[in-house]
Amino acid sequence: MFSKDGKAKDATPPRICDVVWHDGKFIKWNDARVHVMSHVLHYGSSIFEGIRCYSTKRGPAVFRLKEHMQRFLNSAKIYRMDHTWSLDQLCDASVDLVRRSDLEQCYIRPILFRSLDEERPAFGVNPFPNPLACYIGAWDWGKYLGDDAIEKGVDVCVSTWNRLTPNSMPAMAKSGANYMNSQLIKMEALLNGFAEGIALDDRGYVSEGSGENIFVVSGDVVLTPPLSSSILAGITRDSVIQICHELGITVKERSIQRAALYVSDELFFSGTAAEITPIRSVDRITVGAGGRGKITTCIQKAFFEITKGERVAPGDWLTYVNASASKPDNNGHKVKEVISTPSGAGNESAVKYQTAATE
Ligand SMILES: Cc1ncc(COP(=O)(O)O)c(C=O)c1O
Repeated sequence: MFSKDGKAKDATPPRICDVVWHDGKFIKWNDARVHVMSHVLHYGSSIFEGIRCYSTKRGPAVFRLKEHMQRFLNSAKIYRMDHTWSLDQLCDASVDLVRRSDLEQCYIRPILFRSLDEERPAFGVNPFPNPLACYIGAWDWGKYLGDDAIEKGVDVCVSTWNRLTPNSMPAMAKSGANYMNSQLIKMEALLNGFAEGIALDDRGYVSEGSGENIFVVSGDVVLTPPLSSSILAGITRDSVIQICHELGITVKERSIQRAALYVSDELFFSGTAAEITPIRSVDRITVGAGGRGKITTCIQKAFFEITKGERVAPGDWLTYVNASASKPDNNGHKVKEVISTPSGAGNESAVKYQTAATE
């Protein structure tokens, strides 16, 4: 019934961190399981994050950890998930998880969801009777849109599916349920031979990809849809905006018509998974010269230098996982020391790590 296109994607199993953080404790990967009657499986009641940890000369460094965890807390608040985790506890747990893995670089996935109380089960839509469960896992994830994508760019389409409307499902919450819309966009794109789909908002303006924000380069100006176009407020999007400011590139948040994609000089996606991925065609119409454009290259270069710790970031963007708090900061970097109680409640050793503004 369905074409096989796209089914080979993600077929190679990634390297996985064999422990998972669960509500303050580390458990084995194989023990991180839920009951099939859990509320989340039936009603989509989860919120989550996607965070990259990069390999640097000073060991693994988590990119914009606090901002991701703040968005995680915001998503939980929107969905009235009354948990007890603080920003610092979640950040510490993530750092501790990476430290316990042998991964030099990885993708970190915190998730909070409505589970099942097996003693007193509740099966209705009302989420309140169901207990919450919080997990953080990690694995090594390669290039999200293909190995060549970062250099050569990807071919994409405009989806027949619209993005969520602001008062149906809030796009600014990173909820699992939102990704049913993303899956429709992604499957349609893959089955039609494209790497990704771009969704329009309910008014017909450009919104975002199934898992990425989008940027349009017109002349020497960079444009991106505003939050009112039902986008996720991407951390990478914010990083691109700040990098543009540093590079002296004019960047504006604007409603963008679909046709503007076809006549733009350059286009690119931004996202934790996709990083900065150039777009070389939309609906089989070549964008600019059909490859990675000059401005995209410039922004991408700065972005990767920052994530590798080789360029001064505009803020405290890297959290070094293995840095010892007692090690003096000889390079003039701004160092913030965080004493973590790594796994929240009742954990053994206190662990220290540094957040450096720059490398
Ligand atoms: C729908 C959607 N938009 C945008 C993004 C980019 O957000 P970020 O840069 O924070 O990863 C993502 C990825 O998380 C996403 O899933």
